[in-house]
Amino acid sequence: MSKREHYLFVCQNVRPDGNPRPSCGRGGSPEIYAALKAELLRRGLSKIVARACTSSCLDMCDDGPIIGVQPENAFYGHMTVDRVPAVVQALLDGNVVQEFLVQSATLGESNKDR
Ligand code: FES
Repeated sequence: MSKREHYLFVCQNVRPDGNPRPSCGRGGSPEIYAALKAELLRRGLSKIVARACTSSCLDMCDDGPIIGVQPENAFYGHMTVDRVPAVVQALLDGNVVQEFLVQSATLGESNKDR
């Protein structure tokens, strides 16, 4: 297998029952990961261009479900299955989906008091 141009990390963290903190795995991230894998395959990108990976907590829980895109260092928040095609199209276009980005002003703020 070759090194890909892009790696997309879909947080799959699930916090235990009763934990007040949100977690991406309880917000639909397994379905988002599956949709991302399928979309990359459908568009012929999965073997060379981009790989979808699962990850543990990316520490942006209040904005989840989260997809982190490298090497762009872009973090998409409030992901849904419906948003996946736009994420993949941005890879093809060589840009990021600005409206999905977790704003840097909120990074480090959303997870206080963990
Ligand atoms: S649980 Fe997904 S970013 Fe923390």
